[in-house]
Amino acid sequence: MPFALPRLALAPVVLIGLAVLGFGATTMAPGEQPAGGMSRAEAFRRADEAAALGQKMFFDASLSASGAMSCASCHDPKHGFAAPNALPVQMGGPTLTTPGLRNVPTLTYIQVNPQFTEHFFDNEDEGDESVDGGPTGGLTWDGRVDRGSAQAKIPLLSPFEMANASAADVAGKLAKASYASEFANLYGADIFQHPAQAFEAATRALEAYEQDFRTFYPYSSKYDAYLKGLAQLTPAEAHGLALFNDPAKGNCASCHLSTPANDGTPPQFTDFGLIALGVPRNPAIPANADPAYHDLGLCGPERTDLKDHPDYCGLFLSPSLRNVALRQSFFHNGRFHSLKDVVSFYATRDSDPGRWYPKGPDGAVQKFDDLPKAYWGNINTDPPFGEKPGDKPALTDNEIDDVVTFLGTLTDGYFNPSAPIATATPR
Ligand code: HEC
Ligand code: HEC
Repeated sequence: MPFALPRLALAPVVLIGLAVLGFGATTMAPGEQPAGGMSRAEAFRRADEAAALGQKMFFDASLSASGAMSCASCHDPKHGFAAPNALPVQMGGPTLTTPGLRNVPTLTYIQVNPQFTEHFFDNEDEGDESVDGGPTGGLTWDGRVDRGSAQAKIPLLSPFEMANASAADVAGKLAKASYASEFANLYGADIFQHPAQAFEAATRALEAYEQDFRTFYPYSSKYDAYLKGLAQLTPAEAHGLALFNDPAKGNCASCHLSTPANDGTPPQFTDFGLIALGVPRNPAIPANADPAYHDLGLCGPERTDLKDHPDYCGLFLSPSLRNVALRQSFFHNGRFHSLKDVVSFYATRDSDPGRWYPKGPDGAVQKFDDLPKAYWGNINTDPPFGEKPGDKPALTDNEIDDVVTFLGTLTDGYFNPSAPIATATPR
């Protein structure tokens, strides 16, 4: 791995890169040798090889039952590793005709997602450590797995995604892959005689790839250049940022953090909190044809360990907004298809609910139509929410446009962050 790493990206790469190889590096003190008699340099080399292998697997459609679906079919690099199209859910399974249940999230900037916890205490200086921030962290919309390796098992085996019958089924496909010899070089000549271990190793290689900062968290957006003093925001972008941060206007930054952390890590544009926004039901998701079906996020049905927590129903993970302008469907159910609609929804959910929710037979607006009434108390009502119907919305139409313009500054590829400052010329 080249060591021209941005300072801030180094720590997670070291820790997670080694953890991927099974060294428990997260508990390792700086300077300590990884276990297993391997030097740090050797561990880095292996992490790099695992990432290169994971990259091949990520784009390999032969690892699916259909033979036509890879991770990249849903997580397209051109779209911030989110969906390549505007569908709310993708079609998978053996014949690519089985619809999924949720919108495809981005895979960029998930490297710092903390492990899921039901009780989060902020230890940043400005945070009050005694305040319980509630359910926080994890991966997927309901935070049900903590590691990329555990996550990768879901699509490989899900009947509506890559639909392999078993771990052994995946191992059999790996043994026939073009990179089988590299796999055996890294994980042992007899690895394919141990299908369960081969499957585990494959998921660790996928995780190693997802931890490659050059691809997944380059911090190369215009906003990053702006934070480093290398670019100026246009008046509309700057106004959008001010509205995004203003607690009395967008108040977006209260959940989608926009300032660097105390240790200097650039902002991730999420606080990793699980929150209920009351996003309207999406009739375009086939599962929603059944009126009794509700995707309740943290309390199920995809996640099962917290199903007895009614106070968790309707909560979904706040996603990073980095690269969000490359996406074509928004929120866990892909209900919205433009950022203008998303920001307008925030601004007018409570002042003009009839704009977003359907009317019932009695003509009354069915607000929060995707969440049974018993759980409405879970829905967030902090600004920009909380107005009464007919009140002035939190943001005007022009202000909404500026917030959307600002979100466009979060797309990577604006500048080269590893170039020496003097030559890092923004386009
Ligand atoms: C058929 C589409 C599809 C395929 C194929 C697919 N994914 Fe996903 N991926 C999704 C969806 C949908 C979610 C959200 C799932 C949820 O919340 O339950 C997701 C979530 C994730 C997440 C969590 C991201 C986050 O922000 O929390 C990771 C990591 C991930 N996928 C990696 C992979 C890998 C690795 C592969 C290949 C082995 C893969 N995916 C294949 C659709 C897909
Ligand atoms: C109280 C916390 C909170 C606040 C305040 C908030 N968000 Fe969010 N945001 C979330 C959560 C949670 C989700 C995911 C909700 C879901 O899918 O059900 C989300 C999703 C989004 C998405 C969709 C991203 C994607 O990948 O699908 C966008 C865009 C977004 N927020 C922008 C904003 C903007 C702009 C503001 C300010 C006007 C804002 N948010 C204020 C918590 C918040």
